[in-house]
Amino acid sequence: MKRTLFGAIGCAILAAVVSLAWSQEEVMRLQGDGTKASQRPAVVFPHEKHAELMDCSRCHHDYDAYGVNKGDEGRRCAECHGSGKANPVPLQRAYHEQCLSCHERVNARQNRNLPVMCGQCHVR
Ligand code: HEC
Ligand code: HEC
Ligand code: HEC
Ligand code: HEC
Repeated sequence: MKRTLFGAIGCAILAAVVSLAWSQEEVMRLQGDGTKASQRPAVVFPHEKHAELMDCSRCHHDYDAYGVNKGDEGRRCAECHGSGKANPVPLQRAYHEQCLSCHERVNARQNRNLPVMCGQCHVR
């Protein structure tokens, strides 16, 4: 009796941990690099959905000496675009340029309605 009860509790805890880890991976919450207070709510980003649809290198990059993207396994954008980094593109612009340019292109070409308005990404 005792053993089955502990077994059931163990299973429930395991399931909770697994689903938590999974959901964190599936949908990310993006919020600056922590160097200054945010003006807008964090951005909800369905990473898994994007990763299933397109190459990782569409978003993750690391350029070689010839300026060609040699790929990147998923380092934080702020590692290179954060404030204080010697980089031509500041973090906020890096995000906006990447997210928006693609959504605008897809909307125009496929007559879709992917988020392009502030409140569609910075959801309260
Ligand atoms: C396609 C999604 C998307 C849209 C549309 C968008 N943003 Fe963002 N924005 C982001 C992401 C991603 C970040 C980086 C994560 C963060 O800091 O919230 C960001 C960061 C920011 C930041 C810096 C962080 C902060 O909160 O202070 C500001 C300010 C901002 N956006 C304002 C705007 C405004 C104003 C608009 C509308 C004109 C807008 N954004 C539209 C995705 C978007
Ligand atoms: C549509 C753009 C996009 C695509 C496609 C994409 N990612 Fe990401 N990925 C991001 C963004 C944005 C983040 C958040 C980075 C941050 O927090 O600075 C991220 C975060 C990650 C992280 C976590 C980094 C960390 O330390 O928290 C990993 C790992 C990762 N991606 C791997 C991948 C892999 C592997 C693929 C392809 C199967 C992929 N990504 C496809 C945009 C993308
Ligand atoms: C290893 C460092 C590194 C990481 C990590 C990185 N970037 Fe970049 N990124 C660069 C460099 C360097 C450039 C400038 C390339 C050039 O000079 O043309 C750049 C340029 C850009 C540009 C300008 C257009 C382009 O593609 O050249 C955007 C937008 C951008 N990054 C967004 C992001 C986003 C969003 C992330 C996180 C998913 C990210 N970057 C992660 C180094 C990095
Ligand atoms: C290279 C193209 C591309 C880039 C870059 C990109 N997206 Fe998307 N995004 C898409 C496509 C395509 C969809 C539609 C997915 C589908 O059909 O379900 C989408 C859908 C979304 C949705 C809506 C999901 C839903 O369930 O309706 C959100 C939110 C979103 N993207 C946020 C972002 C943010 C934030 C970034 C930048 C960190 C980003 N996207 C970068 C192509 C892109």
